[in-house]
Amino acid sequence: MSGVRTQVAIIGAGPAGLLLGQLLHRAGVDAVILEQRTPEYVLSRIRAGVLEQGTVNLLEQAGVGKRLRAEALTHGGVEIAVNHRRRRIALQDLIGKTVTVYGQTEMTRDLMDARKECGATSVYEAESVQLHGIDGTSPSVTYTHDGEQRRLECDFIAGCDGCHGVSRRSIPQEKLTSYERVYPFGWLGVLADVPPAWDELIYVSSERGFALASMRSATRVRCYVQCPLDDHVEQWSDERFWDEFKLRVGPEVAVRMTIGPSIEKSIAPLRSFVAEPLRFGRLYLAGDAAHIVPPTGAKGLNLAASDVFYLYEGLLEFYVERSSRALDEYSTRALHRVWQAVRFSWWMTTLLHHFPNEDAFAARVRAAELDYLFGSPLAQRVLAENYVGLPL
Ligand code: APR
Ligand code: PHB
Repeated sequence: MSGVRTQVAIIGAGPAGLLLGQLLHRAGVDAVILEQRTPEYVLSRIRAGVLEQGTVNLLEQAGVGKRLRAEALTHGGVEIAVNHRRRRIALQDLIGKTVTVYGQTEMTRDLMDARKECGATSVYEAESVQLHGIDGTSPSVTYTHDGEQRRLECDFIAGCDGCHGVSRRSIPQEKLTSYERVYPFGWLGVLADVPPAWDELIYVSSERGFALASMRSATRVRCYVQCPLDDHVEQWSDERFWDEFKLRVGPEVAVRMTIGPSIEKSIAPLRSFVAEPLRFGRLYLAGDAAHIVPPTGAKGLNLAASDVFYLYEGLLEFYVERSSRALDEYSTRALHRVWQAVRFSWWMTTLLHHFPNEDAFAARVRAAELDYLFGSPLAQRVLAENYVGLPL
C-alpha cells in the first residue's frame, strides 16, 4: 500500500471541502482532498444560489472572487407573495445588507479551477474511503484509487462529505446526538434558459402550495413548486410544471413570463437535521456532513461556509500558534450559528408551505402570522436580519 502524508485530510470536494482546501492552501497549510465522484459529476448537481455577504467575503479570502464579482447579481430585497399579494422585504433599507445571487455550481467550479491552478492535490474517484485512528493523535485515511490501495497519514481529518458520507458514520453512534424534522412534501425544481420575469426572488405561499421564483443570471431562471413526496419527475412535463408555477405565482407575474424547455429537473425532499457535536477526536464535521436544512431561506451552502470559516480559524491557530483552543471551541461556535439557521429555515418552511394535515386552527394562526409580517416593518426586519445572514 503506497502512503503519503499531509497536514489536513479533507473528505469530499463539495463547496465545504473545496473552500476549506483553498483557505488552508493560502495560509500555507497542506491539505489533500479525497472525493469519491468525478469533477464532472460534482459540477452536475444543481443546488441553491444565494450567498450571504459572509460567504462572499470568504470566497474573496480564498482568492476566488474575480468571476463572482464580474458575474454575480446583487439583490437588495426579496419578495414574499401570499395568495398573489406581494410584499417586498427591503433587505438593504431594513438591515443595510444585500445578498448575492451566484449558483453553487459556479462557486464550486471557481474553487476547483483555483485548486488545479495552485497544484494542490485532489484525488477524484477515491473509492472505499475509510477513516482510522480518529480518537488518537495520528489519524489516517485509506482508499482505493486506480485499483490501488492507498493510505494518507495526517494530523486532522475534515469530514466535508455531505449527508451520506463516511465521516459522520465513522463516529461511534453513542457519541453523537441527532435531531431531525422531516417535512411532508418536496420541492420540484426546474432550470431553464429564459430571462426571469422578476427582479428579485419571490417566495410564494398560495392555496395550491409553495413556489419559488429564483434565478441564476439575467438569462437563466430556477423555479420550484412544492409537490407530494411520492411524485416523480416523469409525472411533471415542462408544460405541467410551468402551468402550475404560473397558477401559484399569480397572473401579474405569469403574464410577463417567458417559458422555455427545462435543462434540469429534479425533486428534493425537505428535511432539518443536526448531529452534535461536530467533533470526535481528530475528526471535524463541516457542512452537510453535520447538518441539513430545508432550502427555504437558502441557508445550506452558507452554513457550510460558516463551518469552514470556524474550522479554518481553529486549524490556523493550531499550526501558527500551536494552540488547540479554537479547535476545541469549533463545535460550540459552529453549532450556535447552525441552530440559528435551522430555526430560521424551519420557520420560513412552516410559514410558507401547505401542510397536508394542517388543521383549521393552525391554518388561521399561519394566516395571522403572514398578515403580521406584511403589516409590520419590525417583523420584516427580523426576516431580513436572518435572510442576509447572522454575523459570523
Ligand atoms: N468519500 C469521498 N467523498 C465523498 C464520500 C466518501 N465516502 N461521500 C460523499 N462524498 C463527497 C460527495 O460526492 C460530494 O461531492 O462529498 C461531497 C459533499 O459535498 P456536498 O454534498 O455538496 O456537501 P457540502 O460541501 O457540505 O456542501 C453543502 O451542498 O447540499 C448542499 O445545501 C447544501 O448547498 C449546501 C452544500
Ligand atoms: C435557488 O435559486 O435554487 C434557490 C434560491 C433560494 C432558496 C432556495 C433555492 O431559498
